[in-house]
Amino acid sequence: MPRPRPLIIDTDPGIDDALAIAMALASSEVRVVGLTSVAGNSPLDVTTANAVALLAAFDRSDVPVAAGAAHPLAGTYERVKDSPHGDNGLGGIELEAPGLQRRSMHAMDLIADILRDAEPRSVDIAALGPLTNIAMFLAKHPDLADRIAHITVMGGGTGPGNITDHAEFNIWHDPEAAALVFADTGGAEIVVVGLDVTRRATLDADDLECLRRKSPRGALLARMINAYGDLHEGGWPMHDALALASIVHPPVISTRPASIEVVTAAGKHRGQTLVQFTDEARSPSSGRQIQFATDVDVPLFRDLVHTKVTC
Ligand code: RIB
Ligand code: CA
Repeated sequence: MPRPRPLIIDTDPGIDDALAIAMALASSEVRVVGLTSVAGNSPLDVTTANAVALLAAFDRSDVPVAAGAAHPLAGTYERVKDSPHGDNGLGGIELEAPGLQRRSMHAMDLIADILRDAEPRSVDIAALGPLTNIAMFLAKHPDLADRIAHITVMGGGTGPGNITDHAEFNIWHDPEAAALVFADTGGAEIVVVGLDVTRRATLDADDLECLRRKSPRGALLARMINAYGDLHEGGWPMHDALALASIVHPPVISTRPASIEVVTAAGKHRGQTLVQFTDEARSPSSGRQIQFATDVDVPLFRDLVHTKVTC
């Protein structure tokens, strides 16, 4: 049995973030060594409080939490009107405020502290919100990037967006940060899990009933997911949970090598990801290689949710 890989989760909880965090904590393949919060679905104070409260609800207040960026690299924080995550970021479900609070350091410095003691290419990062913290960490601590094995990003896509016609929310919120991360991560491999596959990674009413019956934690998550405003054809797409599932069980997605350009110019395409698959003979690589998710095993994803959401 291989040793669990250390995992840092950068997150803006967020209902699908909450499911991803619960699955990570229940997975023997990884050891969650830190949570860093970022402004995205909600303002930073809300996403940070949610991260701390979710860890307490999941009996894991031992995991350190550090707050990161309150706004994108370029510009101010813009709260999305009528967020599908609700005003409190968790579908209106109130969690108890735990005693233990976040660390006083910035998220990028908690990431650095964790990596400083790690072996080369040994730590995975799950980036489940805008990429502001990750970009800031890479800019401030480039010497530590060689301890990162993979950065798995929930973001982007080749088709229609979910926040504008052309952009996915995490990339749209901070396109400058995404462009920096996609351009250079000091050699760490990047896996991008975008809307092409996450829109298909849905849980339906039967899945929620199964979660309810399974455990108090399952029932709590079912209440949040049931309140998630992003409902498609009878199912709720669990974007971040699929990105997390691909870390603990890579066969749940299929990927192709690609280069990704992020549109940062103002206008209706800002935040769009222009994906060029580099395994096609006709197009030589125009940028660094990224593994881009092109397919998902939906039944396997659902099985992973149901086996990972325990107690
Ligand atoms: O577009 C989906 C992403 O935006 C997910 O990370 C969800 O939590 C929201 O942040
Ligand atoms: Ca998220």
